[in-house]
Amino acid sequence: MKIAITGANGFAGSNFAHYFKSLGYEVTGIVRPQADLSLLDSNLDIQVTDYNSKEELKRVLKGVDVLIHNAGAVRTHTFMQMVEANVGTTRRVMEAFNAMSEGKRFIYISSQAASHPTKDMELAREEDSPNPVDWYGKSKLLAEKIIQTECAKEWVIVRPCSIYGPGEKDFYQVFKAVQKGINFHIGRKPQYMNLIYVRELAQFLELCVVKENAAGEIFFASDGEIYTQQEFMNLIAEILEVKTIEIAVPVSLAKAAFYAGEAFERITGKTTLLNKQKMKEIIDVIWLCSIEKAKRLLGWNPQPDLKGHLSETINWYKEHNWL
Ligand SMILES: NC(=O)c1ccc[n+]([C@@H]2O[C@H](COP(=O)([O-])OP(=O)(O)OC[C@H]3O[C@@H](n4cnc5c(N)ncnc54)[C@H](OP(=O)(O)O)[C@@H]3O)[C@@H](O)[C@H]2O)c1
Repeated sequence: MKIAITGANGFAGSNFAHYFKSLGYEVTGIVRPQADLSLLDSNLDIQVTDYNSKEELKRVLKGVDVLIHNAGAVRTHTFMQMVEANVGTTRRVMEAFNAMSEGKRFIYISSQAASHPTKDMELAREEDSPNPVDWYGKSKLLAEKIIQTECAKEWVIVRPCSIYGPGEKDFYQVFKAVQKGINFHIGRKPQYMNLIYVRELAQFLELCVVKENAAGEIFFASDGEIYTQQEFMNLIAEILEVKTIEIAVPVSLAKAAFYAGEAFERITGKTTLLNKQKMKEIIDVIWLCSIEKAKRLLGWNPQPDLKGHLSETINWYKEHNWL
């Protein structure tokens, strides 16, 4: 079976590509012309394409049975840029795949952010009314709607929670801070979250590839545990064997930092982790989801091992001189 993965050079895409290749699937990684290929094994089949050209997309999708559309933007300067990256690109990729006679299944990597934040620690379910809070979540939801109404192939929508693992660049900032002895969190309340290790998510995707009854369904993907940010940072400190100073940043100060980051982005034209959109996603909101549907329909049976997976991630960061 031939599997193609868009955005294959990114953090998740490269891990998916290596995982499916290791299982013996024929794998094609689809990337943009200027893509940084440093996370990819040199023996992987890489197809460089222009995502704006349907003909180009059809060329790289030739012979593909399952397409994992993983390419997507997390940070942009404007809502229109976010829509273009996550909705426009998805539509063009889907339309090209629709036109391929051999293509069987289209798997879309959406996000937990397309659903809704948690109220009273209740877990979000796939059938709940969505209520995304930021541009990113809104764009992912729009892309989901297009797939549900216009995809001519079997489709599966996967909504991962926060993903961590080798090559990840946002949580990586947390690892670096802990290594420097800083253990920070916003406010005094515990910040609850779901997590999934990138290899676990690849295993989840394999179920979406092979299970007949995955077709036409939306699934949250997590390892099923509820963690706190504190627990996450404490474990990193334990593995790195560093003593940390705990800094509880008051919510008002954190908000000021997000606004300052937004101003910095406007002035420099760069996108960072500190901006108003990110603030909406993390301050005063908790994101928790249920994986009951995936357990029931896909037989998803995660084996959570946060310490083991963080150790593997840290080893990778060290081997690649990131830490
Ligand atoms: N990381 C998480 O915690 C998380 C959680 C839930 C869902 N997701 C989703 O998982 C997917 C992969 O995320 P990631 O964390 O691996 O991000 P990443 O490392 O930034 O990789 C994103 C990939 O998408 C490509 N891409 C971005 N904008 C594009 C556009 N406009 N047209 C075509 N390709 C574009 C990038 O290409 P270039 O390298 O050329 O820029 C890169 O290959 C995304 O769809 C994301 O929304 C991520």
